[in-house]
Amino acid sequence: MKEFNICTKVQFFAPEELAEEDFKLVEMAKAMTAHSYSPYSHFAVGAALRLADGQIFPGSNQENASFPVGLCAERTAFFAAQASAPEVPPVAIAIAAFTDGAFTAKPVSPCGMCRQALLEAETRYGQPIRVLLYGAEGVYAIDSMKALLPLDFDGSELA
Ligand code: THU
Repeated sequence: MKEFNICTKVQFFAPEELAEEDFKLVEMAKAMTAHSYSPYSHFAVGAALRLADGQIFPGSNQENASFPVGLCAERTAFFAAQASAPEVPPVAIAIAAFTDGAFTAKPVSPCGMCRQALLEAETRYGQPIRVLLYGAEGVYAIDSMKALLPLDFDGSELA
């Protein structure tokens, strides 16, 4: 038997310690929680995706009475960006969540499907996507989506 460890570096910032472009992205993700349509979960998520050319695409979760029809904030931003500017790689995404009248204390984490969706963009463009997870206690920064989804299914074995 052999074994190996997979390590993920997570940096924990006070918002004012962030670089200006990251701070701006986090602020947009926070603002986008107000655009959420979440009458079922009451969990309003906002996202902001920055592309390599500086464009920023906003997103928010959009729910539906038929629950699986809804979409997470991250993928609304990501798919809008891909549909509008497929030639420009995404380079950073910020996420925030507002519930019970306040932003979550702990940094909000992207679901597995959003990790899978965004990781494919890293593979497609050969460029990591910086991940900024906002919580009122501080902001987690992770260097890539791959770091959040190790041993991923990347489709390379598909015929
Ligand atoms: N949600 C997101 O938009 N992003 C995440 O990373 C986690 C979950 C949404 C989906 C659903 O509308 C609500 O939050 C509760 O799960």
